Amino acid sequence: MSDPRPLIIVTRRVPEPVGRALAESFDVRLNPDNHRFSPPEMRRALSEADGMMCTLFDPLGPDVLLPGPHRCRILANFGVGVDHVSLPAARAAGLLVTNTPGVLTDCTADLTIALILMTLRGLGSGERRLRAGQWTGWTPTDQLGRRVTGRTLGIVGFGRIGRAVAHRATRGFGMPVLAWSRTRPEQELLEGFGVTWCDTLDRLLAESDVVSLHVPGSAETANLMDAERLTRMKPGSVLINTARGSLVDEDALVRSLDTGHLGGAGLDVFVNEPNLSPALRAREDVVVLPHLGSATFETRVAMGMKAVENLRSFFRGEALPDPV
Ligand code: NAP
Ligand code: GLV
Repeated sequence: MSDPRPLIIVTRRVPEPVGRALAESFDVRLNPDNHRFSPPEMRRALSEADGMMCTLFDPLGPDVLLPGPHRCRILANFGVGVDHVSLPAARAAGLLVTNTPGVLTDCTADLTIALILMTLRGLGSGERRLRAGQWTGWTPTDQLGRRVTGRTLGIVGFGRIGRAVAHRATRGFGMPVLAWSRTRPEQELLEGFGVTWCDTLDRLLAESDVVSLHVPGSAETANLMDAERLTRMKPGSVLINTARGSLVDEDALVRSLDTGHLGGAGLDVFVNEPNLSPALRAREDVVVLPHLGSATFETRVAMGMKAVENLRSFFRGEALPDPV
């Protein structure tokens, strides 16, 4: 790498090993107080840094990614989803974008299974009752949830995380798994996962007891689960979302729960993060988690290291490991 070393600005606090790895190769400006960059601060960073390590919580739209040239030439996103980045604006600004696929697949699939269990078995409300001193002891009819084993799971978006959830559900819980996605994989792969393919999303919605979303956020997937699609879900079924809040019309979801058509929801992601809509907050039949899919120390270090590798490759003039 030629001197002076490229300057990398990191938009949020990162695990210590990631900061150390960055400092081995770059001049680094970290964000020790972990504040969220305002749009002017983000624009200033783009004009001062050679590269940025950003996160999914940094809106990088055309108001920030002004047409180039900028000093900054690469956005190494700390995360796999890049729906917070306007890719056309990044292109027009002369910026390459990378992400961190794969290393967070297992943790996010684990959390999806946790949400399925929490939602069907009413674990959140059970824990709340116990902590509130409202538990009066075991009875045959109290706090009854729904059995997980054997229920049909519908996976929407059969990519890395969708497949990892299918693997856990079939092997661990004996769940028949249906899948629907943009691209139909080879039959051999479907058989390997023990998954039945649905040619339409409507069929998957009509036949699943649990529908779990794993497509990326995009213009195409915005409001994928709108009022009409929610109506097509099987009566009493539950919706799980660990992908992006933008996939679900939250008001329509609340209405569907109100009418008793849906039997619950488990959500790790929301339309207006970090805000939770009051209507969702109030419901006992909805389990909510604060975007924890990849939130383990090991995974966050692995994500950061992947972002570092992308930055190193770029400044060495090598092919990017994870171009978007
Ligand atoms: P992936 O491997 O790219 O899988 C996405 C799947 O969705 C692919 O099969 C893709 O099909 C399909 N797809 C894309 N657009 C579609 C559309 N318009 N209609 C139908 N199917 C579509 O991604 P991943 O690694 O599994 O991650 C999926 C998403 O999970 C990320 O984008 C992110 O938003 C979210 N995520 C959340 C957390 C969390 O903390 N909760 C953690 C990690 C990821 P093709 O094969 O045709 O592209
Ligand atoms: C998390 O949501 C990610 O996209 O990495």
